[in-house]
Amino acid sequence: MKLRHFLQFKDFSRAEHEYLFARTKKIKSKFKKYQRYWPLEDRTLAMIFEKPSTRTRMSFEAGMHQLGGAAIYLFTRDSQLGRGEPVEDAAQVISRMCDIIMVRTFEQDIIDRFAANSRVPVINGLTNEYHPCQILADIYTFIEHRGSIKGKTVAWIGDSNNVCNTWLQAAEILDFKVNVSTPPGYELEAERKNRHVEEFKDPMAAAKGAHLVTTDVWTSMGFEAENEERKRDFQDWMVDAEMMKAAKKDALFMHCLPAHRGEEVAAEVIDGKQSVVWDEAENRLHAQKALLEFLLLGKK
Ligand code: CP
Ligand code: NVA
Repeated sequence: MKLRHFLQFKDFSRAEHEYLFARTKKIKSKFKKYQRYWPLEDRTLAMIFEKPSTRTRMSFEAGMHQLGGAAIYLFTRDSQLGRGEPVEDAAQVISRMCDIIMVRTFEQDIIDRFAANSRVPVINGLTNEYHPCQILADIYTFIEHRGSIKGKTVAWIGDSNNVCNTWLQAAEILDFKVNVSTPPGYELEAERKNRHVEEFKDPMAAAKGAHLVTTDVWTSMGFEAENEERKRDFQDWMVDAEMMKAAKKDALFMHCLPAHRGEEVAAEVIDGKQSVVWDEAENRLHAQKALLEFLLLGKK
């Protein structure tokens, strides 16, 4: 089988994403029926974390066990990576001892260099630039609740971060629209824009008529030094009930989590009827099981 990586959402075609959504549904249904499904027996996933995690670690580790395999957790601090071992060398060594690798790190360049030196598939578990596994689960969640995302409008309110960038790639591949509203000074980088993206100065205008409203923390991991400044700059970019009213009547609300109630989202929204954040988090498990299966075994 040809070696494939999942470093950005656009590494897979539309047909491959559609295949993954269909597989996610099947794998989720087996899990819900307590059916044993062990296609990855004797396979090992290595998970390298340079930033903290709850969902990504839980979903990959539990997912690998549920598929009959094993998972090994490495945090930079406890590994030689934390003492300056080159990422290229770490990739050579780790990829000789396991079947697939997930990496959560800082710049995309680090995971690109890791993958270029790996003998086995590498999955992006979040970088400063992208979070493709998150959007895989988010779009699957949208499909579960509302059907195909094609032709729909997603409103992104807040920081032009890794999760936002990934939505923009997904819009191009799966043919939907993203309305983006960021505070002045935090606009999209020119190279992230595409013909499926529209920018709005006013977050209410971005939310207008959207089928899905989504946001994320004002300060992502690795940018903590900017926290106080961002709290001031982002004040008007909180998704509250009034903003949800501007969207379609049956609009969904999503957040990759962890969330800060009273900052990027009001408690009444994230804990309200339109919020699907718990399904969204759970679907990380099912979508990534489909991803692991695809990267290791190809189409079933
Ligand atoms: N959404 C997400 O990736 O969460 P964690 O940081 O907990 O993994
Ligand atoms: N944008 C956030 C997502 C956390 C899952 C971060 O990078 O910290």
